[in-house]
Amino acid sequence: MKRTQDTPLPSDDSIVIRDAEPRDGGGVDALARASNSRRTRLGLPSEGLDESLHRVLRVAEAADGLVVGAQAYDQLDRGQCWLSGLAVLPSYRKHGIAGLLLQDAVTLARRDRMRTLRYVTETTNDAVHQLSLDHGLRPRGTWLDFRRDLDEAACSLGRNKTALGTAAIVRLQPSDRLRVLSLLSASGRTLFVHSGAWRTIDDAALAAAIEREAAFFARSGVGGWGLAIIGAQREDAIEATMYGPDPACAKSLLEHLRSLACESTEGVALTIHTPQDAPVAGLLATAVRRGEWHAVTENPLRVWELALVG
Ligand SMILES: CC(C)(COP(=O)(O)OP(=O)(O)OC[C@H]1O[C@@H](n2cnc3c(N)ncnc32)[C@H](O)[C@@H]1OP(=O)(O)O)[C@@H](O)C(=O)NCCC(=O)NCCS
Repeated sequence: MKRTQDTPLPSDDSIVIRDAEPRDGGGVDALARASNSRRTRLGLPSEGLDESLHRVLRVAEAADGLVVGAQAYDQLDRGQCWLSGLAVLPSYRKHGIAGLLLQDAVTLARRDRMRTLRYVTETTNDAVHQLSLDHGLRPRGTWLDFRRDLDEAACSLGRNKTALGTAAIVRLQPSDRLRVLSLLSASGRTLFVHSGAWRTIDDAALAAAIEREAAFFARSGVGGWGLAIIGAQREDAIEATMYGPDPACAKSLLEHLRSLACESTEGVALTIHTPQDAPVAGLLATAVRRGEWHAVTENPLRVWELALVG
């Protein structure tokens, strides 16, 4: 572990990284509390990853048995893994413990033959920025998350509202797959969010979204396009990633998603993930100022990625 003479650790520096055990519950709770979850999207163990193939919470233990750091490792499918909930106790920070946790995750990912490892952080998190560069990760775009909570009354209103959007919305068919993928690749957008984790929207992922009727395309009269992929849909929550350079298409897709959300009678939370420079980000920022939507994080998010093959 990296440390300097003038910044000794508060305790012995022999840190062990291991799987969390039931006895670590208190220590992990203390870590989450000390790390201000709203700003950092901490969730220990990681939230919402209901389809994770394999999930493990790893903790950093100091020589005196204190849990001083933690991180959740999720195997999303056979090739992609996702890290979340990275945290180190304030008095143990800047001594390389996060680096040890990240290195540990890379070792697990290589053991599991993962192709990519990713996590997300707010763009203002200098420590994670530095940590990521130190370990050879590269940024995969800057994203924004917006949320709208539609209660029972808002859903009932939404069901009766006439659509104002001008662009035509179609549900994607299997034959549309390659054309849509080429649009996404050309615009450099090849990630989508599924259950809170950023994954590659490759041929298989798009085919799966089409099969579960969760991919929508918008086309405007002047050749503009927009795409929405629903990552997760439950009775009380819908999460979608939106792409495309055309504001009219973005507007129509947003209306479409709202109508879809309003099929719920109990109330629903609609979360939209979008690249920071997409028109939908501007539309939703305006809606935030009107108080209709809210930004999930204070700052834009950056996805970091490590390619483990090639
Ligand atoms: C982010 C966090 C886990 C880093 O833990 P840590 O053990 O202090 O990190 P490390 O000591 O391994 O430092 C990693 C790098 O970041 C740098 N760094 C650490 N804290 C920093 C800060 N506040 N500002 C700028 N750089 C910082 C370190 O110097 C090191 O870079 P170097 O190797 O070039 O010197 C810790 O600050 C934390 O728990 N923060 C609150 C929760 C959080 O933000 N989690 C991330 C969610 S994605």
